[in-house]
Amino acid sequence: MPIIAADRLEKTFVRGRGARRRVTHAVRPLSFAVEAGEFVGFLGANGAGKSTTIKMMTGILHPSGGAVAVDGLSPQRDRVALALRLGIGFGQRTQLWWDLPLTESYRLLRVMYRVAPHDYAQRLGRLAESTSTGP
Ligand SMILES: Nc1ncnc2c1ncn2[C@@H]1O[C@H](COP(=O)(O)OP(=O)(O)OP(=O)(O)O)[C@@H](O)[C@H]1O
Ligand SMILES: [Mg+2]
Repeated sequence: MPIIAADRLEKTFVRGRGARRRVTHAVRPLSFAVEAGEFVGFLGANGAGKSTTIKMMTGILHPSGGAVAVDGLSPQRDRVALALRLGIGFGQRTQLWWDLPLTESYRLLRVMYRVAPHDYAQRLGRLAESTSTGP
């Protein structure tokens, strides 16, 4: 049995009503299988539906159609049991807290990822330098 099996998995987001109704087919019917022990890269352009697919695999989102099984469990039905058995890291925007200044988000992440203070200072300096628009 594959460790991950997606069967015509799909997700459609609907926002707004009437004339302002917007439908996004974030994931069109997608089927694939991953065997235990396989390392898999999931590539696609921005907006291709990667995060949405992974969110359905973890139970964060419910599919609009089809189904996915992870380690024999349904992420939607068995969300808590599955959460104890998987690890997931999201990058980019979802790594930041809207209510905190950027630098505070970075400080928190430094602790979570156990980055040594001197490494942190060095990387932050490099980042600030590379993005600086000042004179
Ligand atoms: N909660 C949501 N409501 C409405 N539309 C959404 C929502 N989440 C994602 N979308 C839309 O669904 C599509 C797929 O988004 P998704 O975030 O899954 O793409 P992605 O492949 O992870 O992109 P990126 O490489 O930028 O992370 C995009 O058009 C996005 O705007
Ligand atoms: Mg994404």
